[in-house]
Amino acid sequence: MTILHIDSSINGDNSASREVSSSIVNQLKGALWGEKVIHRDLAADPLPHLTLEAFADTSTLDEFMAADTIVIGAPMYNFTLSTQLKSWIDRLMVAGKTFRYTENGPEGLAGGRRVIIAIARGGVYSADAPAAALEHLETYLRGVFNFMGIEPEFVIAEGLNLSPDHRVAAIEQAIGETFRLAA
Ligand SMILES: Cc1cc2nc3c(=O)[nH]c(=O)nc-3n(C[C@H](O)[C@H](O)[C@H](O)COP(=O)(O)O)c2cc1C
Repeated sequence: MTILHIDSSINGDNSASREVSSSIVNQLKGALWGEKVIHRDLAADPLPHLTLEAFADTSTLDEFMAADTIVIGAPMYNFTLSTQLKSWIDRLMVAGKTFRYTENGPEGLAGGRRVIIAIARGGVYSADAPAAALEHLETYLRGVFNFMGIEPEFVIAEGLNLSPDHRVAAIEQAIGETFRLAA
């Protein structure tokens, strides 16, 4: 069993999404014996922007397909995902591999994997929040993984920039939520 752990925050040790994604991986490792964990830090070791030539290198796609569980740290930057994470997703969305088009519409081909996403957002974007219409991170990631045939799970720490106290409380709450993931 393999866990693929992806981080994409530019905030290093101060990153909330890294803190929560690590907690998810630790919980899963504690619950399952003999898990192999592969960690990719897309900020420290970025994938280049997509080019046609990049499709010839299937190593990122192969690594994703070989994993049973994928844990992703996803910070919100400018209302959406980091450019580092987008470059990773660009390598996964390959027709005939993770999805295909049929007469009845698109069909996901990557089902059977568990995807857990730790989202960190400075503001508040829950359904009735004034900024809800600017939320293009959770909605984007849900859409992308649904398209591949996967229903992702989310752990969300938000309102992190409202105040230092709020930040501590929101991260603590998200870490608490990670405990149930291994159950
Ligand atoms: C370049 C940049 C852009 C950001 N844009 C947004 C934004 O559009 N909306 C928001 O709620 N927070 C925004 N934030 C705040 C981050 O979402 C917040 O700091 C969060 O903790 C980022 O996750 P990280 O700590 O794992 O990097 C931004 C932060 C940075 C550094």
